[in-house]
Amino acid sequence: MTTSQNAAPNAPTAPTRLPQGKMPELRVMPAPSDANVYGDVFGGWIMAQVDVAGSLPATRRANGRVATIAVNSFLFKQPVFVGDLLSFYAEIVKVGNTSITVCVEVYAERNRLQSDVVKVTEAQLTYVATGPDRKPRQLPPLDSLISHQ
Ligand SMILES: CC(C)(COP(=O)(O)OP(=O)(O)OC[C@H]1O[C@@H](n2cnc3c(N)ncnc32)[C@H](O)[C@@H]1OP(=O)(O)O)[C@@H](O)C(=O)NCCC(=O)NCCS
Repeated sequence: MTTSQNAAPNAPTAPTRLPQGKMPELRVMPAPSDANVYGDVFGGWIMAQVDVAGSLPATRRANGRVATIAVNSFLFKQPVFVGDLLSFYAEIVKVGNTSITVCVEVYAERNRLQSDVVKVTEAQLTYVATGPDRKPRQLPPLDSLISHQ
């Protein structure tokens, strides 16, 4: 029997690496005040960070304010522990007339001196570009944006 066949059903996935050649939108370390009653990090805290991370490329694409209209999917694949160093990678996967859909992947660096990296969360959210009246606003053409996309 191989090692993987012996693995417990909920065992952490094999150690991985942070995505190469990509910059995280956000890096943050949860504190004890971010934990739930069991001592692991509260899912709502992770959701808030994911929303912030996803809004950053959406705001750049919208060249202004956006509002979150939908959380299309959210998977907490592995628990997050106090002291993990979390990296949030966000990528635009769809653009409509006023909406921008972003995929956010979260990796935790645990036991950082051993380069122990685990993908903990994956989510897809949709943002809408809004005007000062808080109503949907047509997205600007790509070529009108300053080239930091
Ligand atoms: C965001 C908001 C201004 C959009 O106004 P609206 O009248 O509901 O929007 P519309 O129905 O015109 O849809 C706007 C876009 O969202 C998309 N959309 C609407 N419902 C959606 C859903 N459930 N999932 C994904 N996209 C959706 C539409 O397809 C449209 O995209 P497109 O223009 O690219 O085709 C409004 O819903 C709102 O203020 N919501 C509250 C936002 C908020 O408080 N978020 C939390 C804090 S940021």
